[in-house]
Amino acid sequence: MTEALPFDERYIPSLNEYLQYYEKSLDDLEGFWDGNARQLKWYRYWDVVLDRSNPPFYKWFVGGETNINLNALDRWVGTSLENRVAYYWVGEDGSRRTISYRELFREVNRFSFVLKEFIGVGKGDTVTLYLPMIPELPISMLSIARIGAIHSVVFSGFSSAALAERIVDAESKVVVTADGFYRRGNIINLKERVDEAVAMARDRGVDVEKVIVVKRLDGNVKMHMNRDYWYHELMAEAPQKVYVPPEKMKSTDILFILYTSGTTGKPKGIMHSVGGYMTYIYNVFKWNWDPRPEDIYWCAADIGWITGHTYIVYGPLMHNMTSIMYEGAPDYPKPDIIWRIVEEYGVNTFYTSPTLLRLLRKYGDKWIENVDLSSLRILGTVGEPINPDVWKWYYEKIGRNACPIVDTWWQTETGAAMLSPAPGIALVPLKPGSATLPLPGIVADVIKEDGSRSEPGEKGYLVVKEPWPGMLMGIWGDPDRYINTYWSRFSDPEKGIWIYYPADYAVRDSDGYFWILGRADEVLKIAGHRIGTIELEDAIITHPAVSEAAVVGAPDPVKGELPIAVVTLKEGYTPSEELAEEIKETVRRVIGPIATPKKVVFVNKLPKTRSGKIMRRIIIAMLHDRPIGDTSTLEDPSAVEELKEAIESLKKSF
Ligand code: WTA
Repeated sequence: MTEALPFDERYIPSLNEYLQYYEKSLDDLEGFWDGNARQLKWYRYWDVVLDRSNPPFYKWFVGGETNINLNALDRWVGTSLENRVAYYWVGEDGSRRTISYRELFREVNRFSFVLKEFIGVGKGDTVTLYLPMIPELPISMLSIARIGAIHSVVFSGFSSAALAERIVDAESKVVVTADGFYRRGNIINLKERVDEAVAMARDRGVDVEKVIVVKRLDGNVKMHMNRDYWYHELMAEAPQKVYVPPEKMKSTDILFILYTSGTTGKPKGIMHSVGGYMTYIYNVFKWNWDPRPEDIYWCAADIGWITGHTYIVYGPLMHNMTSIMYEGAPDYPKPDIIWRIVEEYGVNTFYTSPTLLRLLRKYGDKWIENVDLSSLRILGTVGEPINPDVWKWYYEKIGRNACPIVDTWWQTETGAAMLSPAPGIALVPLKPGSATLPLPGIVADVIKEDGSRSEPGEKGYLVVKEPWPGMLMGIWGDPDRYINTYWSRFSDPEKGIWIYYPADYAVRDSDGYFWILGRADEVLKIAGHRIGTIELEDAIITHPAVSEAAVVGAPDPVKGELPIAVVTLKEGYTPSEELAEEIKETVRRVIGPIATPKKVVFVNKLPKTRSGKIMRRIIIAMLHDRPIGDTSTLEDPSAVEELKEAIESLKKSF
């Protein structure tokens, strides 16, 4: 066990105290969640805590009725807590907005009225949100949840084609967007992308009837008659002090869909439930951040991803927290912008990704020397494995050897953290690079290919062996894919054994600590963002010169990994720098800039099996200087030699 670190006396590590709490949670799992759910407001309590009758379609708090607004907003209104600031919003251009719980409640009620009465959104309808990091994004999410509709937030960095695909899959008739936003001093015209997406969706049979546009910039965009409406104009028509009662939702209704990448080209619409998600994230937020009434809290993620849903919107609001919401890039106008904001607002809890830490560390410590970071109390990280040296930098330089590092392992599918230290219960001794132990109520393990438990130090697959309330309810419109993706690999339905498979490699050490080793499937984590290699390949082959493509991740010192595209060209095309650039541009256009390949490598043949399957593992092995293993199934062994040369010269260019 590593030595205990010199924390403030509130966080003296105590493994035993934590383990006692943890073990007690498992003694009566359902009783544990029942008690935790009762801390929240419900219209009606449940008849059954967990319905296991149709696995893996578990149902939490069956018979219960609630609305997340009751716990995120309404419970603060009419009490002195309504005056607390919900969000300090910081725009990239230096503009600021401060929104109290009371103001947020007013806005949400008015927008709920607008959606219901003017736009005609009803219970169960899906609404797509394509918004930058502005307060209207949480306002829209809460309003949609309030009236019992389902939000599907699409990250504002995605292209119009990616947006269209998500609109079509969710069959959204209504989209909420903005005219644009600032990114590194440039103006991003979001509305134009929405217009393109709406046209593409129409070609695929889904008609978006209404587009609501928030004016973030000068409003100089094209508006379509009878389809596009300005948010501020609609809001001006709604009564000032309208109250829209939160719709009574079943615990098992869907709160939101959030698309994430998997191992096919089609993104998965992950569905989260009203009651289970609410209960789980309320508790995990408390365990992770030990919230206190005067805290200033900052999760520096984008609401377009699950981290933002749980840790910028619903989690902090359910705890009456004051959050920072930041619109801009982490190093613009200067590499100290993040730390300057921490200093200005006296941030106590700060949660971010290893990619951001690596980026800021690279700029050098001179950017932190003259800022006062003494307000910080807890630091968090999420999204990818954190390198031990980056962990130490975070701990020493940002946390001044006094803040626990809360490394949280989880997924879009899990709702909130699953493995992580829990200073809100009892801090366990920390180890740089380990997400430590499962949170209460979570039965996690590391197992081998044959399903048996891995020995300490032996690499295996991370699995979860009991349902938890924050679990996804399924994949929108695709129940079979839900079973196949998450519940097939290690389950044994005949024996009634159901095991959740997250597709991450992990190892446990002799103290039982979990170390996450990366994805076990064809999904990349690019700067912490989850992008499927097959999605990238599908995008690349839309370029007219490309015949076939294989995408793999190559290590990157800042972004963790970046895609490398190995492509073959059609007859009549020859490799060139221009063509490589065009292919990168195609990816930007089809998916978005975050997915842009680092390099495009041209070969005559891809390594394929006789049945035509691309053997990405050969390319990966070459990139990492590992033995390429068995190649007997290759259709044409000569592909290997050529590829080897290409990858060797690529590595020299890194
Ligand atoms: C990876 C993000 C190591 C992992 C919340 C997981 C991590 C995927 C960690 C989910 C961590 C997340 N350490 N790896 N602390 N947190 N991951 O859905 O591969 O965008 O399966 O959710 O990120 O990515 P997603």
